[in-house]
Amino acid sequence: MAPTLSSFAAPRGGAQCPSGGRAGTDMQNAENAAQTNEAVIKISKVSTRFGAQVVHSELDLEIRRAEIFALIGGSGSGKSTLLREMILLQRPDSGSIRVLGVDLHEPTDEAALALRQRWGVMFQHGGLFGSLTVKENVGLPLREHSRLDDALIDELADWKIAMAGLKPEAAGQYPSELSGGMMKRASLARALALDPELLFLDEPTAGLDPESAAGVDQLVRELRDLFGLTVVMITHDLDLLWQVADRVAVLADGKVQGIGTMAELAQMKHPAIRQFFDGPRGRAAQDQKIENEK
Ligand SMILES: Nc1ncnc2c1ncn2[C@@H]1O[C@H](COP(=O)(O)OP(=O)(O)OP(=O)(O)O)[C@@H](O)[C@H]1O
Ligand SMILES: [Mg+2]
Repeated sequence: MAPTLSSFAAPRGGAQCPSGGRAGTDMQNAENAAQTNEAVIKISKVSTRFGAQVVHSELDLEIRRAEIFALIGGSGSGKSTLLREMILLQRPDSGSIRVLGVDLHEPTDEAALALRQRWGVMFQHGGLFGSLTVKENVGLPLREHSRLDDALIDELADWKIAMAGLKPEAAGQYPSELSGGMMKRASLARALALDPELLFLDEPTAGLDPESAAGVDQLVRELRDLFGLTVVMITHDLDLLWQVADRVAVLADGKVQGIGTMAELAQMKHPAIRQFFDGPRGRAAQDQKIENEK
């Protein structure tokens, strides 16, 4: 049976956790951090245009430490663009974005490198290198960003692979040999390689069968609960939104039109928000949440 994250919650320190450093203190930090309202991401008056098309128009958004935050909105509303702006892959035309206390406007190379080591990104289509095994893919960020020797990198990669809920056999497989669910988990293992404080997930459950999707739901929750990670995800998955997200922001017409828990959003009237709740799928997910809380 694949290990669950809970098996990593045993007393940690150098011996159990090969990464030795950060994770050892994370549990205590997680509890403290979870209770603060400190903004890990602060987006102020961000505007983005592609030619004549306005994608973001003075958009404001704050994401707090140790929350599971979801970004939703119709196709083309600018979710992926905003995510790319949060991870230094793209620049807004104006406004400011601060991540982990650093202003993303023209950071120095050193500051950008340091930031990239503090967040992990799981891209929508995995983004794994097809010519590398799962283990080599997961070890890659460690090879690029640390001076650890090969044996330790291998050990760390195995650790992250197990953490993401993959069986040890998967380590030697190539991406083309993986199922969709395994691919998501391998991509998550790579995103976790450097013990990030912040995790960005683009459609983490898209295309998965219900059982695999439920596994990802649980993993996301455990990562936050055990390690105090802040999770920012783009998703259309109503179960993930209702069962896992702490707060959700709805993007439409260049701005955040509503923000809050799903229950709070369910009361709002904006048409862009209503589309997530009205209709049979929206109602079923809401009913399921109510049923679970009984
Ligand atoms: N590099 C680019 N050049 C030109 N237009 C772009 C570029 N990137 C995004 N756009 C446009 O900006 C708009 C927002 O795109 P974005 O990918 O952020 O949408 P999205 O909310 O992620 O949509 P989806 O749910 O379909 O993934 C779209 O109309 C898209 O065509
Ligand atoms: Mg997108």
